[in-house]
Amino acid sequence: MIPAAMPAVHLDPRLTPIYPLGTELDERGRLQLGGCDALELAAEFGTPAYVVVEQDLRTRAQAFVEAFRAASPTAQVVFASKAFPCTAVYRVLAEEGIGCDVASGGELASALRGGFDPAVIHLHGNAKSEEELSFAIDTGIGAIVVDNHDEIDRLTRLLAERGRRQAVLIRVAPGVSPDTHPSISTGGPNTKFGFNLPEAAHAVRRLQADPNVELRGIHFHIGSQIMELAPFGAALRAVSELGDFPVYNLGGGLGVQYTTDGPEPPSIEEYAIAKVRMVEELFGPGKTVIDEPGRALTARSTVTLYTVQSVKQNVVNWVAVDGGMSDNLRPMLYDARYEIDVVSRMRTREDAPDDVLAHVTGKHCESGDVLVRDARLNAPRVGDVLVTPVTGAYGHAMANTYNGSPRPPVIFVKDGDARVVVRRETREDLFSRDV
Ligand code: LLP
Repeated sequence: MIPAAMPAVHLDPRLTPIYPLGTELDERGRLQLGGCDALELAAEFGTPAYVVVEQDLRTRAQAFVEAFRAASPTAQVVFASKAFPCTAVYRVLAEEGIGCDVASGGELASALRGGFDPAVIHLHGNAKSEEELSFAIDTGIGAIVVDNHDEIDRLTRLLAERGRRQAVLIRVAPGVSPDTHPSISTGGPNTKFGFNLPEAAHAVRRLQADPNVELRGIHFHIGSQIMELAPFGAALRAVSELGDFPVYNLGGGLGVQYTTDGPEPPSIEEYAIAKVRMVEELFGPGKTVIDEPGRALTARSTVTLYTVQSVKQNVVNWVAVDGGMSDNLRPMLYDARYEIDVVSRMRTREDAPDDVLAHVTGKHCESGDVLVRDARLNAPRVGDVLVTPVTGAYGHAMANTYNGSPRPPVIFVKDGDARVVVRRETREDLFSRDV
């Protein structure tokens, strides 16, 4: 028994930047998320599970809104909802007063279900179908971000048929490639997204000629997990040749810190000021600057809990858990690095003598299904609950049922209470589309 007077153990300061705000250890060294004990969450809801600290999500949304408002009273923050398309997340972010970017009819339906006013929703996509465009127009969404000439043909026709006017932005590929993984770099000269500069000039003329279209401005999104601010300025300089518009949507892309030794991104405040100032310097005051954060809004709010199923040594140590590439594709797709810990024996500043070096793998039938290589875990054994932090962006979003794995639930925790906002998928769900 631990004596009651034993002082609380603080989360190792190296771990603080990668765990949700307010994360603590109790006196036994057990992880507490949103006031809930991680081991008890795993026992009550099972694993794998995504655990979202609601207060982290809200605080970060408020930080974005305040930072952009402080930089420019007309700036708008729009949630890039592909990062975490879950009704409860849409609901929280709608309550926090931000807008929403959707990349498909499905995300549009989800945003509406989550309570977003259609007027603050923007529709993206490089292959929008006629049905998706019609859905967006008929719903009265705030803006359609036009990607290509075929879409202009379709949009022009659909608006004429309806006798409706629609606000649009033009998606431009500014020819700028930030320093990030090639799969999440989207603004280079040869990208599938948007118009390159000569074509964009042509698109501006086409859209300006259509009386049913209100061309408000330019959009670019140069990529994701960006740690430096200069590429945004380069992109703005490139699009300045297209003319002067009331609106500049600079996309999202602000990176997050994933590992204790990983690079630190600029703060939300630095990012907001820099983006707004760059627009002011090039285009003068009075422009509406729009930002579309996905990862930087949601990633750190969430951790994933797993249970160890086996510990073995085949040359190196292998610790296998009950999830993997079905709940987190990022290590496989982008060689993304994560930290991992045992929730009941969290790492401290001093590495313990019983720490072992191991590859933590998923349960899937692929050698590449490794969640964390060379993880340092404290005496891992079967039944231990493990935690990977920073899984709130593109985790749930890209989850899949490979190997017949039902997808994990999403659990919101707040002030010591936990509630399921997305239930665990069942085996019956796996057959639910059979006819
Ligand atoms: N705006 C547009 C038009 C986008 O395409 C994206 C992301 C964002 C905003 C938000 O970017 P963020 O702030 O999250 O970097 N699955 C990948 C990320 C793909 C991002 C796609 N577009 C990953 O897990 O890293």
